Amino acid sequence: MDSQTQMKQVVADAAIKNVKNGMILGLGSGSTAALMIKSLADEIRLGKLQNIRAVATSFQAEVLALQLNIPLIDLASVSQIDLAIDGADEVDPGFNLIKGGGACHVREKLVASKADQLLIVVDETKLVQNLNQSFPLPVEVLPNAWKQVQEMISEMNGRSSLRMATKKAGPIVTDQGNLILDVLFNDGIKNPKEIEMTINNIPGVLENGLFVGLTDKVLVGKIENNTPVAYSPSRAS
Ligand code: 5RP
Repeated sequence: MDSQTQMKQVVADAAIKNVKNGMILGLGSGSTAALMIKSLADEIRLGKLQNIRAVATSFQAEVLALQLNIPLIDLASVSQIDLAIDGADEVDPGFNLIKGGGACHVREKLVASKADQLLIVVDETKLVQNLNQSFPLPVEVLPNAWKQVQEMISEMNGRSSLRMATKKAGPIVTDQGNLILDVLFNDGIKNPKEIEMTINNIPGVLENGLFVGLTDKVLVGKIENNTPVAYSPSRAS
């Protein structure tokens, strides 16, 4: 196992310690969340966690949960989620996030917004001082609106490109059947709430990957003395 996977595994396992019997969970997407879903399935199989039900944030999470016999329920059928556990692409000191590296941020944000607690699991490479200095902000757009949205984002000094698929000609298509623009602003994002709202106000945009004021706790994986360890930083005020 490479060191980044070891860091992801240690936070995935640590995250499960926050789960209690009878909870409705939000299952995140991406490679770290996938490790967390596997750890959760192990605990359920061993009888250490009981009466767990889960809402998936993506087709990826749904398939994995089905394969691992985690009981799934539909987002629309629950009024509240106890705990959502998800990964992130960037985490700033105030726990604002960029998500959507796996193009799942629409459902991830819906689940996070319905959750009493959002727990983010990352390896330490995801911690940044300022968002969007290097990781582009994913914006999900209706297919026939991508060019128009790109022009509007360009007027905000954002350079964007259509995310292209691998092993399929053309752009990636999201779980909702839309496209993704990946956006880099000239100086990064210093005012995440304002940028989140402004982009979401562009006609043709479904949702962007800025998560502002949603995160309750972050678990970070790092390697210390050749051993993977998880720690929980405090939020900067
Ligand atoms: C998917 C996400 C993921 O949580 C994010 O991309 C982190 O993924 P990974 O754990 O594989 O680095 O937001 O849309």
